Amino acid sequence: MLPQFLSALIVPFLCLHVVLAQTNSSATNSTATYTNPILTAGGADPWVIRHGDYYYMTYTTNDNITILRSSVLTDWNNADVKLAFNPSYGYAYSTDLWAPELHPIGDRWYIIFTADPNYDSPPPETDMYCEFTCPAVNHRMFVLESSTSDPWESDYSLKSELNTYDQFAIDGTYFQHTTGLYHIYSCWYRQYDGWPSNLCITKMSDPWTVSSNFSQREILSVPSNPWEKTPYGRPFNVRLSSNEGPEQLTNPTTGQQFVIYSAARSDNRNYCLGQLELVGADPMNPEDWRKDNEGCVFYQNALEQAYGVGHASFTKSPDGKEDWIVYHGMLDPITGWAARTIRTQRFTWNEDGTPNFPRPGYGPYPVPSGQT
Ligand SMILES: *[C@@H]1O[C@H](CO)[C@@H](O)[C@H](O)[C@H]1NC(C)=O
Ligand SMILES: *[C@@H]1O[C@H](CO)[C@@H](O)[C@H](O)[C@H]1NC(C)=O
Ligand SMILES: *[C@@H]1O[C@H](CO)[C@@H](O)[C@H](O)[C@H]1NC(C)=O
Ligand SMILES: *[C@@H]1O[C@H](CO)[C@@H](O)[C@H](O)[C@H]1NC(C)=O
Repeated sequence: MLPQFLSALIVPFLCLHVVLAQTNSSATNSTATYTNPILTAGGADPWVIRHGDYYYMTYTTNDNITILRSSVLTDWNNADVKLAFNPSYGYAYSTDLWAPELHPIGDRWYIIFTADPNYDSPPPETDMYCEFTCPAVNHRMFVLESSTSDPWESDYSLKSELNTYDQFAIDGTYFQHTTGLYHIYSCWYRQYDGWPSNLCITKMSDPWTVSSNFSQREILSVPSNPWEKTPYGRPFNVRLSSNEGPEQLTNPTTGQQFVIYSAARSDNRNYCLGQLELVGADPMNPEDWRKDNEGCVFYQNALEQAYGVGHASFTKSPDGKEDWIVYHGMLDPITGWAARTIRTQRFTWNEDGTPNFPRPGYGPYPVPSGQT
């Protein structure tokens, strides 16, 4: 609570600021700006793709898979809404629908998502095997396929569960490479680990079929650094140590391939992004990946009250010239998952071809180039 005399000083200042921001928000003015979050209602795990004249977003709603469509990247409050999938009860994918992503592969669109059978509350005879509590023990990956080559006009139907060897699997994504298609997802070492969550890779023969067997599954990254643990540097056990939310990112100039992933714990202020770069020829060879062990490449900014920033996806400005990151973060660092909102910011590239992410904040920032 602010002392009364301070509030009296601050309130007029805030009002002035709002007036200026509105003055500059004219969409036709080249100095047009936007502020974060870009969807006023809460949301997490945003995935955005630009296609034709629109941006499409999907994100975690828990109960269904919803696609939003907007002509601008920076305001989703008036977006068109499409219910793509609304499972009934009684299936392996009926509850906790998380982190959907919408990918065009061939002439269809594929929605890859996480779900579980019944709010994943394992019975005692399952839970007893886990080292720590393991509420996510039944989470698996699933794929929907579009009925046409149009992501908005299509119906979506369940195509398959992705083979993760009957083990925990969340936040799966496609990694597309000259050598083929891969599934990269958050995994445990063993069926009943509970923690840590790692990044695993398997090869696919098509967007709904994993072709690797269990012994061919490879672990690309484990949360071994202090910043991949919660609390920071936790010395005693691996509880709350996560690698999850992997996303492919390609440098448009050099062709360098990255996997940007989320580290630490998603309900906590130190959730952040880490970076793997494919420096060899074979994505299935862990030696061909170089992990940036220096620290998070995108992380909380206490000066701007932007906490727990992670689970990103990547898109372009309407004119294709700028790179943009879409992510979730928290203004309030203590309430946990419910505090997450969806944000976007421009990013650039370093001399060595790695992404140069900004400090997270609320703006106002200039709108993406070519946005009208
Ligand atoms: C709006 O534009 C004016 C004039 O260019 C500038 O001084 C001001 O800082 C801008 N305000 C915001 C919120 O961007
Ligand atoms: C945009 O708005 C700013 C501040 O209101 C003004 O100074 C500038 O001339 C405008 N530019 C254009 C292209 O309209
Ligand atoms: C999807 O689920 C969310 C969360 O329960 C709900 O708020 C929303 O209305 C649902 N969307 C549609 C289109 O039914
Ligand atoms: C997995 O596949 C490889 C290559 O085909 C094979 O050599 C290996 O025996 C298989 N392992 C299992 C457990 O099936």
